[in-house]
Amino acid sequence: MTARRGSILLIDDEEKILKALGRALRDAGHEVIECSNPRSGQKLLAERPIDLVIVDNVMPQLSGLELIREYVGSTPEGERAQILMMTAHATVESALEAMKLGALDYLQKPFEIDELLVVVRRALDHQRLRTEYGYLRSERDERFDNYGIVGSSRAIQEIIARAERVAETKSTVLITGETGTGKELIARAIHNRSAQRDMPLIRVNCAAIPEALLESELFGHVRGAFTGAATSKKGKFALADGGTIFLDEIGTMSPALQSKLLRVLQEREFEPLGAERTERVDLRVIAATNRDVRQMVAEGRFQEDLFYRLNVIPIVLPPLRERREDIPALVDHFVRKHAQRTGRRVERVDEGARAALRQYDWPGNVRELENTIERAVVLSSGPVLTPRDVSVIGAVAQQSSGLPSLKLRPNIEWVEKETIRRALDASRGIKKEAAELMGISQRALSYYLAKYRIE
Ligand SMILES: Nc1ncnc2c1ncn2[C@@H]1O[C@H](COP(=O)(O)OP(=O)(O)OP(=O)(O)O)[C@@H](O)[C@H]1O
Ligand SMILES: [Mg+2]
Repeated sequence: MTARRGSILLIDDEEKILKALGRALRDAGHEVIECSNPRSGQKLLAERPIDLVIVDNVMPQLSGLELIREYVGSTPEGERAQILMMTAHATVESALEAMKLGALDYLQKPFEIDELLVVVRRALDHQRLRTEYGYLRSERDERFDNYGIVGSSRAIQEIIARAERVAETKSTVLITGETGTGKELIARAIHNRSAQRDMPLIRVNCAAIPEALLESELFGHVRGAFTGAATSKKGKFALADGGTIFLDEIGTMSPALQSKLLRVLQEREFEPLGAERTERVDLRVIAATNRDVRQMVAEGRFQEDLFYRLNVIPIVLPPLRERREDIPALVDHFVRKHAQRTGRRVERVDEGARAALRQYDWPGNVRELENTIERAVVLSSGPVLTPRDVSVIGAVAQQSSGLPSLKLRPNIEWVEKETIRRALDASRGIKKEAAELMGISQRALSYYLAKYRIE
């Protein structure tokens, strides 16, 4: 492997010095561009990838200090070259000034070539570290974007780190946490980060499939295996072969199926319903549940062996109310997401609304927060969300009864009422306009006004 020597831009109006320094640096293996005009030097800096710029201070067209000031002002730190200034004794002041602006060091003229080489090597080392750091950081940002996992709390950061580590293995993972805490999001992140990411990720919602069908869903069946099995069908385990099977809501699985699942986990083989043959699979299992499986084991409702087989790598997602510091970032994330999705110009959330969002207990966790923000964005009348905008479900119900209500009807009615009130606000009480804004007829509006006794 050849070490990268770095590219150096040398700017000095005195041709003789320029040539001499250029030669010395080139002899030391560096790539050098010489430039006797600071204005053209500036252009080069903007156009080419340069690792280090060495600039003389006193030049007639533009002083080195000015050049540095303009460069630093127009280029973000992560994209900047390292800066060294050359200066005569009389202008050491401006060299110090240059360092305040961000130059790494200065060379006082006259200097020895060896001194130059040492300073240059150090500057290039700095630049390499900066580039690597910037690269790692952007790679990390990109990964966060991919996963869509937002949150700076220690809990979330540790979960991301654990997910990244486990992604490199094929170990079985059990993700637990209340509803809406992000279990599926983490499961997908693990798969997408794994070496099997191009293979399928198959999700089975164990709670949504009737008990009688679940076994054939998981393991498949042959034709005539049971009444109604007119053709043979591949099961999810076979479909996920080579990739990941995500067993969601595992806590709802019947004891009989639990035993069958245990066998697959132990032996990596199973028989489709009605089949004589055994199928082998090579896949990763991720299971998730919002139930307390340990408790279920204690109560004899979940097989202990299966629990230990699943719980190889446990990931526990804490409820949102136990990591409130994640709320502001999540709020901003969801505002951006839904503003973009709906094309609405919602730019920020005011202080009052932020405080309300942070205080609320979020029994539905991140999902409930997202739904609240989505509704607020859709219903908002301006670019700034206020406490009224975000009080759509939980908070309002909570104020009146002390408990959040998840009853559908009252919440829908509340949204209807709120929408009509806002439409009337927006149309300064003119019913015809309000009806148009809402896309309903005036008759429908009259009906709602009577229903909700709105004046
Ligand atoms: N940390 C997070 N950053 C961004 N979005 C999140 C985060 N956590 C959850 N979400 C979002 O919240 C919603 C609910 O998450 P998810 O479906 O993963 O929850 P869950 O734990 O599987 O819930 P349930 O138990 O109800 O199935 C999803 O839209 C998800 O993208
Ligand atoms: Mg889920």
